[in-house]
Amino acid sequence: MGPSLTSSRTDVDALPFSVEVHVGPGDFRVEMARDVARGLSAASKELQPKYFYDARGSALFEQITETAEYYQTRTERSILERIAPEVITRHGIDEVVELGAGSARKTETLLRALHARNAAARYIPFDVDPHMLVDTAGRLSALLPGLSVHAVAGDFERHMATIPSPSGRRLIVFLGGTVGNFSPGARGGFISKVAQLMDPGDLLLVGTDLVGDVARIEAAYNDATGVTSDFNLNALRVLNRELGADFDLGHFVHDARYDHAQDCIEMFARATLAQRVRVEELGLDLAFAEGEEIRTEISCKFTRESVSQMYESGGLKLAEWHTDPNQWFAVSLAARD
Ligand code: SAH
Ligand code: TRP
Repeated sequence: MGPSLTSSRTDVDALPFSVEVHVGPGDFRVEMARDVARGLSAASKELQPKYFYDARGSALFEQITETAEYYQTRTERSILERIAPEVITRHGIDEVVELGAGSARKTETLLRALHARNAAARYIPFDVDPHMLVDTAGRLSALLPGLSVHAVAGDFERHMATIPSPSGRRLIVFLGGTVGNFSPGARGGFISKVAQLMDPGDLLLVGTDLVGDVARIEAAYNDATGVTSDFNLNALRVLNRELGADFDLGHFVHDARYDHAQDCIEMFARATLAQRVRVEELGLDLAFAEGEEIRTEISCKFTRESVSQMYESGGLKLAEWHTDPNQWFAVSLAARD
């Protein structure tokens, strides 16, 4: 039995899982055109990363998580393996909502504990890439028979309210340090939107990369095999395909540097020579100076204090703090009351 891709919010009950898609090609391209036009016309050029998680981008991100330098995934997984059964049983969790779920490989440990508690429990993965979601939903419903998987393809900025209301005690999870991809100013607003998906007693579990050795952190975004570079430059490939741009990927290089003022890694695509780029569908002619950069992503690093502040700025309270022995990564829980 295959998945059903619908453009409405109606579930097809007979399928082993359902997928609700809010990021259809129409709207999403209009929004992309607007965001890209704004970002590339700015004095410091920048792009929004959400557009780069196309099928190729998502697959490349999966490869990043397997590089030797990207310590975040395996460290977060080790913390989750240690705490998952506790978190699910002690808090009596009935359903899991996952934001930016991607392949949900690390979520399996939580879902196994959830499934053991209640074989008909609900899992709601939410992600901007519908293709990845279909794979994830299919894999998890096969792995954990009876688990009710309801996937929602949407954008954090526009579609969070389409996530169904809680049907029992809810745990919302947001892994991979993805919360660090929001600008510090946007984080609080995001957390308060997440809080709206919670009833009193529900919990939010967030994985955050921690402030620490800068060389180790920079290496995680500059892996030797070049996968991160491919992922980052995939941004330009998406613009070529979706907006008729003519970026020459041979004339841009990836760079990632730590910004001490904000405690964020910043990712760039840097022009290796002076060049012009045409973005046909935007009627945009861009001039790049040699060495000019497009900022493609930020990834902020946290402390216990800044995580606590983040929750408070969104109306939640830090409830539990779990780290690995090296204190490289943290998994924290926040509550609303
Ligand atoms: N949770 C996974 C993936 C993290 S990568 C892990 O921990 O490994 C970030 C994920 O967030 C990707 O799957 C990407 O498709 C999704 N994402 C990025 N921007 C998004 C947005 N604006 N709205 C919804 N999902 C988004
Ligand atoms: N959430 C990931 C992080 O901040 C995203 C990420 C990892 C990323 N490597 C990247 C984004 C390289 C752009 C380029 O760690």
